[in-house]
Amino acid sequence: MTSTTAIPLADPALAERLTARLALVEERLRDAVAHADALADTASRHLVNAGGKRLRPVLTLLTAELGDGSRREVLDAAVVVELTHLATLYHDDVMDSAPLRRGAPSAHEVWGNSVAILTGDLLFARASSTVAGLGPEAVRIQSATFERLCLGQLHETVGPRPDEDPVEHYLQVLADKTASLIATSARLGAMFAGCPPQVVATVTAFGERIGVAFQLADDVIDLTSDGSVTGKTPGTDLREGVPTMPALLLRARATGPDATDEDRAALALLDADLSGDEALAAAVAALSQHPVVELTRQRAVALAHSASAELAPLPDGPVKDALVAFADLLVDRAS
Ligand code: IPE
Ligand code: IPE
Ligand code: MG
Ligand code: MG
Repeated sequence: MTSTTAIPLADPALAERLTARLALVEERLRDAVAHADALADTASRHLVNAGGKRLRPVLTLLTAELGDGSRREVLDAAVVVELTHLATLYHDDVMDSAPLRRGAPSAHEVWGNSVAILTGDLLFARASSTVAGLGPEAVRIQSATFERLCLGQLHETVGPRPDEDPVEHYLQVLADKTASLIATSARLGAMFAGCPPQVVATVTAFGERIGVAFQLADDVIDLTSDGSVTGKTPGTDLREGVPTMPALLLRARATGPDATDEDRAALALLDADLSGDEALAAAVAALSQHPVVELTRQRAVALAHSASAELAPLPDGPVKDALVAFADLLVDRAS
């Protein structure tokens, strides 16, 4: 089981409130995935029980602290974003043929693709039912988010058009598949805590930027972190030919006018048949030692800093400090 990330919170009262509310979200989440049907129940609980960092609900609870964070709707919003995230994980692992998730065998490894896909759909159904209780605006936001998420995954799958720059295309993929839900997590928290529209807009823009930074950090972690820490199998994206920022940067360099022998050798390892474990390990090792990984990390850090700069209009205090700490944590993590 992977563990819930603790944001370093300097303010003990804020830390206490968030911990207590997260425990309530956890209870609601478990109720929300329960089914009378035994297989639906077991398969739906599989990833909730396996752990995870709960970053999205934490962000919802945190932005809600900018208003009245104690409202019931805030807890429901936090449940909606984690349910939506969970559903996408079931589907993503099928698409990426990922063997491990949150330290547990992924659902398709246990029950096969059809059950994994349908379980993701069941979780979406439960997210829809919970969001319905929050009213039409929340339903509209949730469906627009879901649409972006699907388009992000779709555009990742089909790749850039010949006239598109691969890196720009990829940044849009990240914004859609990952930042959309992180921005919505921030937005719903502030919205249901009764914050004024400018505050809601500020945290939404913040969420959008940290979301892209977060996914860039994920690309680095896929190469540099141990599977026992991430709960995922390193190199999964490389094996499946799913583009990541380090791989795209390497390809651009190795096929450009300033390519070095090192660049070309690393790209050859990446383009080899990666179905065997040795070939995959060699490709992961070559890419993880290449300077493009540090460039990707620096890009993530710069985006996280620019996200924190977006918070300037918010009043100074423990909540703003915690949001900055949250942004830093997203790009400086091992799992
Ligand atoms: C994984 O998200 C999917 C991505 C968008 C990179 P997380 O890294 O937040 O996964 P959990 O929830 O902690 O398992
Ligand atoms: C996951 O992207 C994005 C969504 C679930 C929408 P990845 O495929 O890059 O994430 P991991 O590495 O499997 O968590
Ligand atoms: Mg994946
Ligand atoms: Mg994927």
